[in-house]
Amino acid sequence: MKRVTAFVGSARKKYTYNAVRQFLENLKPLGDIEYEVITLSDHRLGTCRGCQLCFEKGEEFCPMKDDRDVLIEKIMASDGVVFASPNYSFQVSAVMKIFLDRLGFVFHRPRFFGKTFTSIVAQGIYGGDKIVRYLDFVGNGLGFNTVKGSCVTALQPMTEKEKQKIDRAIRRQSRRFYQRLVKPGYPVPTFIKLMAFRMARTSIRLELDDSSRDYAYYKDKGWFESDYYYPTRLGVLKKVAGSLFDSIQTKRTRSRHS
Ligand SMILES: Cc1cc2nc3c(=O)[nH]c(=O)nc-3n(C[C@H](O)[C@H](O)[C@H](O)COP(=O)(O)O)c2cc1C
Repeated sequence: MKRVTAFVGSARKKYTYNAVRQFLENLKPLGDIEYEVITLSDHRLGTCRGCQLCFEKGEEFCPMKDDRDVLIEKIMASDGVVFASPNYSFQVSAVMKIFLDRLGFVFHRPRFFGKTFTSIVAQGIYGGDKIVRYLDFVGNGLGFNTVKGSCVTALQPMTEKEKQKIDRAIRRQSRRFYQRLVKPGYPVPTFIKLMAFRMARTSIRLELDDSSRDYAYYKDKGWFESDYYYPTRLGVLKKVAGSLFDSIQTKRTRSRHS
C-alpha cells in the first residue's frame, strides 16, 4: 500500500481542491493507494520572523509554536506528496508560501528522499506554468523525487472541450506519478542535482564547522564523503563530473577568503 498526502493552499474547496481529488482518485485503479487531503488554512501556520535559528541552531529552536511539525510528520509518513495551490497574483497563495517558508530549513538539510512529489496549480487565466515550475523546483530542493506538475486553467464558463483537456492532463500526471511511486530504489541524480549537492556540501565543509547545524547534519549523514545524498551508482562520467564540481567549489570558496 502506498500513502499519498496532498497539501492544498486554497481555503475554498473548488478548482485546486477538485483537481487534487481528481488526481488522487485516478491513482486508485492503478494500485493500492490510500490518500489524505490537507487544507493548509485549517492548520495553524505562523509567518516566519526571519530569525534563522532553524538554519543555524536547529528547527527545534524556532520560537513559533504552530502545526509545522504535525505537517512534516504527515510528509514523513507518506510515500507520495502533492503541493497544490491556486495562482494568486502570479504566485502560490499566501498560505502555501507560509507553509514553504516553515519548511525553509529543509532546503538546508534535505530529508524527503525516496518520496514522490508533484504539484498542481489552478488558475483563472495566466502565469500558472511558472508556478508549477517553481513548486517542482521546491520539491527537488526538499529532497523529493519530483514528477512534473500541471496547471489547470479554470476560467468560467468552461467548454466541454476545455474540461476534457484538463481531465486528460490530470490523468497523464496521475500515471506519471504512480509509475515513480512504485519504482523501487532511488533515481540516479541528474548532472544538475549532482552539481547542487557537490557544491553545497563542499562549501558547507569549507565554510562551516561543528558549531553549525548544517555542518553537523552533513557530517552525521556521511555526506562529506558520499557520492550523493543517498546510495546510488554513478557512471564514470558522473563520477568525474562530481569530482570536478567539488574542486570548482573548493577553488571558489578559497578565492572568497583570499
Ligand atoms: C487574490 C487572487 C489573485 C489571483 N491572481 C490570479 C493570477 O495572477 N492569474 C490567474 O490566472 N488567476 C488568478 N486568480 C484566479 C484564481 O487563480 C482562480 O480563480 C483559481 O481557480 C482559484 O483556485 P480555487 O478555485 O482553488 O480557489 C486570482 C484569484 C485571487 C482570489
